[in-house]
Amino acid sequence: MLIVSSLLCSSAQGAERVMQLAFLRPATAPTQADQVLSHTQAEPEVPAARRAIDSVDFLDDNNPDRHRLQRIGEATRHLPYDANGFPDWMKALNRGLIKPRADLSGQKKMEVLDLDIVMRNTKEMPFVKFPHRSHTEWLACANCHPDPFPTKAGASEIRMANIFRGQFCGKCHDRVAFVTFYSCDRCHSQPQKTSPKP
Ligand code: HEC
Ligand code: HEC
Ligand code: HEC
Repeated sequence: MLIVSSLLCSSAQGAERVMQLAFLRPATAPTQADQVLSHTQAEPEVPAARRAIDSVDFLDDNNPDRHRLQRIGEATRHLPYDANGFPDWMKALNRGLIKPRADLSGQKKMEVLDLDIVMRNTKEMPFVKFPHRSHTEWLACANCHPDPFPTKAGASEIRMANIFRGQFCGKCHDRVAFVTFYSCDRCHSQPQKTSPKP
């Protein structure tokens, strides 16, 4: 009973911290992150997003077995990292450093679709190029169609605020796929004709 309640307590705090992270903005990020993460300030080279997520602790400190769990740094040391200090899973996949299976038996193959969708409702930002290939190397069509995306280019009305809140691309990005913070250019990768030169 004690263990359960301390688990619940630490995950409630954790949820709050994740919410703060999802709304980090360059202007406020350092202050927010510093407040949340004062105990890790000794390592300033670790990016803010990585520190924020690492500081979320869902594990029970009183459980003697927690120290036997493999650390993420140890498990991913051989992988390339991105600007937020997380493994760059696409680079890892493309370099053959990881080989995800399509099913438990390892017999099935993924249905890979090589189709880029350019999304132009981006205001002053470069257009978004959505690559089906990168996604369908390890996701099934049904992960995205018909929800959250109807199978028709231009059918969704997407705003960044919705993405940060966990809708559309944000169902995965900022959560299990790469963090949007400091990664605008990974999605907004297609220059508009009128874009100022970088
Ligand atoms: C995971 C992919 C992804 C990342 C990362 C991303 N965006 Fe977007 N962004 C989108 C999509 C998708 C749209 C909608 C495009 C459309 O509907 O034509 C969009 C639209 C926008 C728009 C116009 C709509 C609105 O909400 O005002 C702006 C401005 C924008 N993004 C800014 C940014 C900035 C700044 C960053 C980095 C902090 C960023 N985006 C990172 C996917 C992304
Ligand atoms: C990670 C999400 C994701 C996955 C997985 C995915 N799609 Fe899509 N798909 C999209 C998005 C986003 C769009 C564009 C929606 C929009 O513009 O509103 C799209 C659009 C489409 C379109 C419309 C193209 C057009 O020109 O109108 C087709 C067809 C399609 N997808 C087929 C597939 C098939 C087949 C698979 C599986 C092999 C698949 N998709 C997997 C996200 C995904
Ligand atoms: C169902 C989950 C899911 C959704 C929804 C989703 N993505 Fe992704 N996305 C992934 C995963 C998983 C990866 C690969 C892991 C990573 O890079 O973190 C990825 C990678 C990417 C990449 C990197 C591709 C490369 O080759 O480097 C881009 C760009 C991207 N997504 C854009 C988008 C955009 C734009 C949307 C919304 C229109 C979107 N994604 C929606 C799961 C998703």
